[in-house]
Amino acid sequence: MDDTLYLQQGFTDEQRPAAAALYDAAFGAKLGVAIPDPKQRLSILAQGFQPKFCWVAMRGEALVGIAGYKNAQGSLTGGISWRLLQTELGYRGALRALAILALLDREHTPGELLLDGICVAANMRGQGVGSQLLQQLIQYAKREGYQRLRLDVINTNPDAKRLYQRMGFNVTATESFAYLRWLLGFSATTRMTYSHLNKAQKPKS
Ligand SMILES: CC(C)(COP(=O)(O)OP(=O)(O)OC[C@H]1O[C@@H](n2cnc3c(N)ncnc32)[C@H](O)[C@@H]1OP(=O)(O)O)[C@@H](O)C(=O)NCCC(=O)NCCS
Repeated sequence: MDDTLYLQQGFTDEQRPAAAALYDAAFGAKLGVAIPDPKQRLSILAQGFQPKFCWVAMRGEALVGIAGYKNAQGSLTGGISWRLLQTELGYRGALRALAILALLDREHTPGELLLDGICVAANMRGQGVGSQLLQQLIQYAKREGYQRLRLDVINTNPDAKRLYQRMGFNVTATESFAYLRWLLGFSATTRMTYSHLNKAQKPKS
């Protein structure tokens, strides 16, 4: 089997379950506060993903990395609607999930491309896949005329923060919500921005 690594924008409908499994393996603990049942979580992710809002790393047929993003048109997780949550979780479960997901949601501001979750399969980490995905997002942001690429990293993930710094991201703000640590498992996020993009182009909204 050809196991050459390559990157592509988006994924097919057939790849939705694999994308959901990969995303959940990385972020399930965080998302589990909102949607505790793993089966329901996988189903909601698979249905709610908007595949065109990401770059993925493929190794042969296997999806081994995802870098989701959010812009003015939408986001990778932007299809997780009230309707989908209610269908999967019922009224009370959906209400709870929506309230918690709202705490995790990040606002996009004009001119920026916002990272909406980057993850690599556990058995492929530390081999440069995450760096390649970030590099691809930087190129994409440049090509599309964005002014900034932004991400938020939680304070319990220093390894990821180091990786972003190495890729050229700078810390631009920190947000503390110590009162939510009991619920979310982290008490602060660091906002990091990559701003060495081509400023000559017409800015995106
Ligand atoms: C963060 C992540 C996407 C990096 O992808 P990757 O393919 O392992 O990254 P690379 O091989 O290009 O770079 C490795 C760097 O990432 C860091 N890293 C972060 N989390 C890591 C993990 N769980 N395993 C291995 N490396 C990790 C390493 O420390 C390494 O930096 P170092 O050489 O300074 O130690 C990946 O590790 C991952 O999916 N982690 C879980 C999800 C996550 O935390 N996402 C980020 C949310 S902000």
